[in-house]
Amino acid sequence: MSDTATTSMDIMAEGSAAQRERVIELLKRAYWMEIETVMSYIANSVNPDGVRAQEVKESLEQDIQEELGHAQQFAARIKELYGVVPGSLDFEPEQSYLQPPSDQVDIVHVIRGVIEAEQGAIEHYSRIVEETDGVDPVTQDIVIQILHDEQGHKRLFEGFLREYEALGLA
Ligand SMILES: [Fe+2]
Ligand SMILES: [Fe+2]
Repeated sequence: MSDTATTSMDIMAEGSAAQRERVIELLKRAYWMEIETVMSYIANSVNPDGVRAQEVKESLEQDIQEELGHAQQFAARIKELYGVVPGSLDFEPEQSYLQPPSDQVDIVHVIRGVIEAEQGAIEHYSRIVEETDGVDPVTQDIVIQILHDEQGHKRLFEGFLREYEALGLA
C-alpha cells in the first residue's frame, strides 16, 4: 500500500487502516454537524412567532427529517469502515449562530443562522469529497449526494433572505 492516489485502492483492506481512520474522523465530524443541525432546526421550527415566520418554520420542519437521514447515513458509513459511532458525551456544540434570538419574531436571525449552518456543512462535505478522491469512492459518492441536499437547503434560505432584503427587513 504505497500509492494512495490510485482509484484501485481498497479502503476496506487491512493495509488501508490509516486512510480509513482519516475518513472515519471526517465522517464523525459530519455526523455531529447533522445532529446539531437537527437540534437547531427543531428549536427554530417551533420558536419563531408571526405570520412571516410560518413558511420558514414549515421548511425547517421538513429539513429535520432530511438532516436526521444524513446523520444516519454518516453513522452507517462509519460502521461499514470498521469505526464506532461516537456516544453523546463526545458531542461538542458549534452552532452559536443558531441559538434562539432574543426576540422570537426575529426570523431574519434564523434565516441567516440556517444559511451559515448549511454553508459550514457544504465546506466540510466538499473537503470530504476532496480527501476521499481516489481513496474511498463509496464515501465520496454518499457525501456528494448529501452535499447536493445542503446546497438546495442553502439556496432556499438565500431566497428567503433576498425577500426580506427586498422588503427592507434584513
Ligand atoms: Fe444535512
Ligand atoms: Fe441541510
